[in-house]
Amino acid sequence: IKTIGVLTSGGDAPGMNAAIRAVVRRGISSGLKVKGIYKGYNGLLNEEIIDMTARDVSDTIERGGTILYTARCAEFRTEEGQRRGAEVCKKHGIEGLIVIGGDGSFAGAQKLANLGINTIGVPGTIDLDIACTEYTIGFDTAVNTAMEAIDKVRDTSTSHERCSIIEVMGRNAGYIALWCGIANGAEDVLLPERYDYDEQKLINNIIESRKAGKKHHIIINAEGIGHSEAMAKRIEAATGIETRATILGHMQRGGSPTCKDRVYASIMGAKAVDLLREGKTCRVVGYRHGEYVDFDINEALAMRKDVPEYQVEVCNSLSHNYSKLNK
Ligand code: F6P
Repeated sequence: IKTIGVLTSGGDAPGMNAAIRAVVRRGISSGLKVKGIYKGYNGLLNEEIIDMTARDVSDTIERGGTILYTARCAEFRTEEGQRRGAEVCKKHGIEGLIVIGGDGSFAGAQKLANLGINTIGVPGTIDLDIACTEYTIGFDTAVNTAMEAIDKVRDTSTSHERCSIIEVMGRNAGYIALWCGIANGAEDVLLPERYDYDEQKLINNIIESRKAGKKHHIIINAEGIGHSEAMAKRIEAATGIETRATILGHMQRGGSPTCKDRVYASIMGAKAVDLLREGKTCRVVGYRHGEYVDFDINEALAMRKDVPEYQVEVCNSLSHNYSKLNK
């Protein structure tokens, strides 16, 4: 293999630049040519492809976002799009392609592998929702950003003796919500994986905690449940306690990556290059039981994961109300 390509696809995540940098530098130092593809599969189809040098990734490891830009590409979900993508790779001499993104992006990589392009996926998403790996690039930064924001909301919530619902990202997964629930010491945490929706229980918790003298009531609500504004209105009406909703939104995707994100992204990016050099294809890099590993993309996409029961139970047991909500 002489030439490889790298692209970022789907939602951006802090640490993607560290992964790109690792691919470029590991590739070049092992004698490969490395091409950067802009804007995910969209850029591949539009041939937005550049040659990359080691210098092109200088001063990028500390930057949030992705220097290659990213996109979600509907056309690449079609057979015609995938076939054209493989043709563009061949035209540009790209024999191996590293795709940094989530499950949707890996599905595209799997199709390209079937069309003769060696592909390796690197897990990049703040949601931590890729089943084959315990770690995804961006989660650590995002969860720290959310934690700091929630601490700030808590200050004003206490001053006004309010109830605050804070909605965190995660698509259909509750990992960011669970981690913030533990790290911020939230009174209630609403997880899509566990939520047996009973708003009356939530309302009772708020009333009880107020009676017990609590000055604030922090509810962390996962995006997968959503409807935080409407929930706040109903809670205020039922409890008589001023209630506000804060949706943290895309701020969770930005910012300089943490040390953990930089290091894991660097190692995963380098490993992806090593796999291509070993002639591997249709693999996803993962991190499991303290080791960097790789899985067949088809197997990885068929795996399922759930928020760990023990962590949910500990989160509940440490909350002020010993909430039964997530049981
Ligand atoms: O997958 C990352 C993520 O930020 C999810 O948490 C969220 O559901 C989604 O992307 C938002 O996507 P968009 O940037 O297209 O609004």
